[in-house]
Amino acid sequence: MNGGAPGIDVEVKTGVDLVNIAEFRGPLDRRGDAMRPRLFAPAEVAGATVERLAGIFAAKEAAFKALALPRSDWYVLEIGHDGDGRPYIEFAERYDPSHIVSLDLSISHTDEYAVASVMALARK
Ligand SMILES: CC(C)(COP(=O)(O)OP(=O)(O)OC[C@H]1O[C@@H](n2cnc3c(N)ncnc32)[C@H](O)[C@@H]1OP(=O)(O)O)[C@@H](O)C(=O)NCCC(=O)NCCS
Repeated sequence: MNGGAPGIDVEVKTGVDLVNIAEFRGPLDRRGDAMRPRLFAPAEVAGATVERLAGIFAAKEAAFKALALPRSDWYVLEIGHDGDGRPYIEFAERYDPSHIVSLDLSISHTDEYAVASVMALARK
């Protein structure tokens, strides 16, 4: 069984991603001016450390996996933070999230790695 039980019309979808911060930092240092706007929305970049950006990158990859989204569309979702610092996912208007009943994102990082996990409860 993968993601659901017969007769139940919702299924759990998960995605996880791990980013090596040193490997992420290299291209960002060399061609960050081109890379940042390609991968990140202005609000994601504003005041963000490289660790936070790596976490946001991991969060997007994790969401792509959980929701089976194409990997090249970095603007289909945006990662925000609420008043407590808790990250959340916001979808672009062109994406219809009506099949998603519930969605949660968690991010953690050290100096070396950033990891993100996305869990979605979605209608089949
Ligand atoms: C928030 C908390 C989970 C961070 O844990 P940590 O081990 O210090 O750091 P981690 O690397 O594992 O996690 C950091 C990431 O957690 C996420 N995060 C921050 N606050 C969060 C919260 N309230 N809930 C869930 N996730 C949170 C962010 O994505 C953050 O990354 P960022 O710093 O790039 O924004 C930790 O401080 C904690 O347990 N707090 C308890 C709740 C709390 O004290 N809230 C503040 C009330 S005064």
